[in-house]
Amino acid sequence: MQLSRLGFFKGDVLNLPADFPGPFGFVFDRGCYHIVREFDVEGYLHTLKRITTTGSIGLFLTGNAKEKGEPGPPVVSEEELRAELGKVFQIVRFARVSI
Ligand SMILES: C[S@@+](CC[C@H](N)C(=O)[O-])C[C@H]1O[C@@H](n2cnc3c(N)ncnc32)[C@H](O)[C@@H]1O
Repeated sequence: MQLSRLGFFKGDVLNLPADFPGPFGFVFDRGCYHIVREFDVEGYLHTLKRITTTGSIGLFLTGNAKEKGEPGPPVVSEEELRAELGKVFQIVRFARVSI
């Protein structure tokens, strides 16, 4: 697969094609992790490991388990996030944000 520096790729984060580029210095996830973790968190972490390298920075926005609501996004607790994403990243900041 050819992907320019500013290109976009649409695909299954749990099943990237063999020729997916990387590693990347920055990973941004808004609302995907908190969905896919519910049925294949190890697959998601496998993808993260594959597309990152030492020094890569990640920014993850998830639903907050302390603000559970209906309707609302899937939620993740700080403990869950640390246990899961902590397998790939050193968690340097955990913060509540409003978007
Ligand atoms: C809550 S939406 C967030 C969309 C967008 N990132 C945003 O912030 O507006 C969750 C997104 O995760 C995508 N998604 C769910 N499972 C996925 C998978 N296995 N691979 C790639 N994307 C997936 C859905 O298609 C959906 O667009």
